Amino acid sequence: MDNFAGTVYETLSTTRVRFSTKPGGFVSSGELVEIGGGDRKQLGRIISIERRNYLIDQDGAVQLSSLYDGDPSIDTKTMGIRGDFRDHIVGEIEIIGRRDGNIFKRPRAPFNIGEKIFKASREFLEEQLRPDAQSIAIGTFRDNHEVKVHLNLNELISKHFCVLAMTGGGKSWTIAVIIEAIAKEYDIPIVIFDPHGEYSSLCCARGDTPDAASVTGKIKIFVVAEKTIQESSDMLFEEKFNKQRDSERLCVNMADLETYQIIYLMQSMFELSEAQNRILQAGWSDITDDPDIKSTTDIEKIIEKLEEVASRVTKGEAAKNILNTKLRLLYRDAPFIRKQVDDPRADIKDIVKKGQVTVIDMSGMEVLYQQAFIAIISNKILRGRMRREIPPVLTIFEEAHRYIPSGAEFTASKPTIKRIAQEGRKFIMGMGIISQRPSRVDSDVLSQCNTQIIMRLTNPNDQKYVKQVSEHVTDSDLEEIRTLAPGEAYLFGSAVPLSLPTQIEADRLTLHGGYTPDIVDELQKF
Ligand SMILES: Nc1ncnc2c1ncn2[C@@H]1O[C@H](COP(=O)(O)OP(=O)(O)OP(=O)(O)O)[C@@H](O)[C@H]1O
Ligand SMILES: [Mg+2]
Repeated sequence: MDNFAGTVYETLSTTRVRFSTKPGGFVSSGELVEIGGGDRKQLGRIISIERRNYLIDQDGAVQLSSLYDGDPSIDTKTMGIRGDFRDHIVGEIEIIGRRDGNIFKRPRAPFNIGEKIFKASREFLEEQLRPDAQSIAIGTFRDNHEVKVHLNLNELISKHFCVLAMTGGGKSWTIAVIIEAIAKEYDIPIVIFDPHGEYSSLCCARGDTPDAASVTGKIKIFVVAEKTIQESSDMLFEEKFNKQRDSERLCVNMADLETYQIIYLMQSMFELSEAQNRILQAGWSDITDDPDIKSTTDIEKIIEKLEEVASRVTKGEAAKNILNTKLRLLYRDAPFIRKQVDDPRADIKDIVKKGQVTVIDMSGMEVLYQQAFIAIISNKILRGRMRREIPPVLTIFEEAHRYIPSGAEFTASKPTIKRIAQEGRKFIMGMGIISQRPSRVDSDVLSQCNTQIIMRLTNPNDQKYVKQVSEHVTDSDLEEIRTLAPGEAYLFGSAVPLSLPTQIEADRLTLHGGYTPDIVDELQKF
C-alpha cells in the first residue's frame, strides 16, 4: 500500500511512540503521519529515524567484516544468509494531536501496540491545517507539495512577524511572496523600507495574469535621494528590468527631526561638544514646536531661532558657531532634507493609503541617514494611526539589525521601532522584521514578533538567540533549520496552526529584485 508507513511497537508516552516499517519500507524525518482510526485519528510527525536490519546485529557485522576483508566481492546471499535482506526503518513519532477549533488536542491515553501508521493524506492534512479565518497562502508543506500552507492574516499583521535567515536564504523572496499574496486579494496598505532598492521590481509583472496586474497596479515607489540620483537610479532600473520606473522623491523638513534624533545624528557624524549638546537639548524643541520654523526649508531661520536659546545656555561663541556650521553641513548633505519649497514634503496620507503598496527606496543613502529617515517616517505613521488619520498598515523593515541593533547600541531609529513593537498592535500598525543576523537585532523587538518565519541559519550564535527570543523553537527545530535549503522555511507562532517545514512559493507574480549580480555578466558592460 502506497501510504502505509509502519506499525507501533512501543509507546514512550501518550504523545510519543516508536514504530517500524516493513523491510524495504521508507519514511523520512519530518514527515507527517496519521495514526489511529475514525474520530481518534491523530496527526503525528516523525522526529527521528534509524535504519536497521534484523538479520545483522553487531556480532553479525563483526563476522561479515572479517569475511569482506578477505574478499570484498562476497555477497551475503551467496554465503547462505536467507530471508528478506532489505533494511527497515525504526523511528519515533511525536503526536501533534487533532484540530479542535483553533488548537490541537492531544490524546490522553497511549496508542495500542500494533497500531497502524499511514503517511498523512492530503485530505486529512488540509482538514487539519485549513485556515480558520482570512489568510494568505505562501507556499506548500515541504514534504507534501499538494498541501498549501496558509498564514492567518490578522495574526500575521497585527501581532508582528519576523523573517530570519542567513544571506541568500530567501528572506526577500519570502517578503515579496507575502506582499504579493496580500496585494492580490486585499487592500491592506503596506510600507516597505527598502535599503537596497530591490523591491521596486514589484511593479514588473511576471506573466500577463489578472493576479499579477492587481499586484503591480498597487505599487507606489518613493526614492529618498537628490534629484540626479533619483534619475540615474530610474535609468538603472529600466536597464535591468526593461520597464520604466515611475518614482517620486520623498523628503522631510529639517525640523521633522526630533531632539534625540538630531542629537544622535550630529553626534555620530561630527561629534558634539558638551555645550553644543546642551544647546540642542534646550533649544531644538522650540524649533519643532514652532509651526513657521517647522515648515521652513531655510536652514538660516532654524539657526536664528536656535541662537536665542544658545545665548541662554552657553557663553561660548565658538561652540555656537561650530554647531551652526555642523547644522549647515547636515542640512546640505542629508539627501532626505528639503532645501527648496518645491522639494516634495512627505505626507503620511500619500505614504499609507488603502490599496497601495509603498516601496521607499533608500538605496542611495548612508546607513546613518537611513536610520534617521526611518525614525521620522515610522514615527509619523505611528502617530497617524493613533489619531486614526490613516488606515491600518503593515510596515516592513529590511536589514533590521541596522536600525534596531541589539544590546546598548543606540540608533536614531531604535526608540521608534521599539515603540511600534510594543504599541503598534493596539493601533493595528503591524511590523515585519527581516534580518540575516538575528543575534544583532534588539531582543525586545524580536520577542514581540508573534509569528516567526525562520529559514536556513547556520551561525550558532544566531541559532541560540532565535531559541531565546522565541518560545516556540526547540532544539530539534534548530537542527532542522540548519539544514534547510534556500526557499525553505519553518513557520512558528500565532499565524500558523502548526510549526511546519514549508517550501515558500517559487512561482512569483512579479520579478525578483534581489538577484546577486553575476561578475562575468557585469564585466561584459565594461
Ligand atoms: N522560495 C523560493 N523559490 C525559488 N527560489 C528562491 C526562493 N527563495 C529564494 N530563492 C532564490 O534564492 C535567491 C536568494 O533569495 P533572496 O534574495 O530572498 O535572499 P535573502 O535571504 O534576501 O539574501 P540577502 O540576505 O543577501 O538579502 C533568489 O534570488 C532566488 O533565486
Ligand atoms: Mg534580501
